[in-house]
Amino acid sequence: SEVDLQEIYNTALEVASRAGQVIKEAFLKEKLVDTKQSQADLVTETDKAVEILVHQLITTKFPSHKFIGEETTSATGEQCKLTDDPTWIIDPVDGTTNFVHSIPEVAFSLGVAVGKKAVVGVVYIPMKEELFTARLGHGAFLNGNKLQPSNIQELKKSVVIMEAGSSRDIAVVNDKMKNMHTVVTHSHGIRSYGSAALNLSYVAAGRGDAYVEYGIHIWDFIAGALIATEAGAVVQDPTGSELDYLHRRILCASTPELASELSSVLTHLDMGYD
Ligand code: IPD
Repeated sequence: SEVDLQEIYNTALEVASRAGQVIKEAFLKEKLVDTKQSQADLVTETDKAVEILVHQLITTKFPSHKFIGEETTSATGEQCKLTDDPTWIIDPVDGTTNFVHSIPEVAFSLGVAVGKKAVVGVVYIPMKEELFTARLGHGAFLNGNKLQPSNIQELKKSVVIMEAGSSRDIAVVNDKMKNMHTVVTHSHGIRSYGSAALNLSYVAAGRGDAYVEYGIHIWDFIAGALIATEAGAVVQDPTGSELDYLHRRILCASTPELASELSSVLTHLDMGYD
């Protein structure tokens, strides 16, 4: 049957607004926090509540569509399968550590893939009322205004967003610190906002010039990757090859020149596949 992209997009906006409401209401309250893979990999009751709500809204409207959610995937430990079917991929709270510590850089991230290709991306930062949206072939927007990345081409004139991430494996942390050291010494500096979805949306908006991270998941970046691509940024695997949604790593830059220079100075970590 025909996939109605307009209806998918409208539903995505409605879902983001409902999810944002729940996040906003919970933001200043006491949080019930649990850990997952490491002492720094957090989940709260809000992550779970938002995921359940969103799952319900989507399956009611599109019973035949597939669903990949961060908390459902973590809880079942099932391997995440991306098929050609229309698939809704969500991170209920991207930036859970920020959420737990009352730092407002918290995003709801929703991507829809059809034929394994992202067609809709919505990243909503409810605490700032910033709604980043993109549809394949139609550009990317912040609260309805068209997004434009910076035109920085040289690493030495750029700010690069990088994250320490949640793995506490010593070798992984060491490689990431080494990359941060390299980028700091070759650029205007680094930033860590604590949400992959927000980081990608920021590069799309010209708030910083590049972003690279190893160890994230499809739900953290699929929506932001479409937003950045549609804004005109370069989105690729950190090595320079084509982005693989299941390969747990991404590099985004405002220009191809900056993407290739950044790629060439990094040690590329391989943290496996979803
Ligand atoms: C996290 C954020 C963060 C990244 C972590 C992710 P979560 O997502 O995207 O920027 O550095 O690796 O786990 O767990 O808050 O959804």
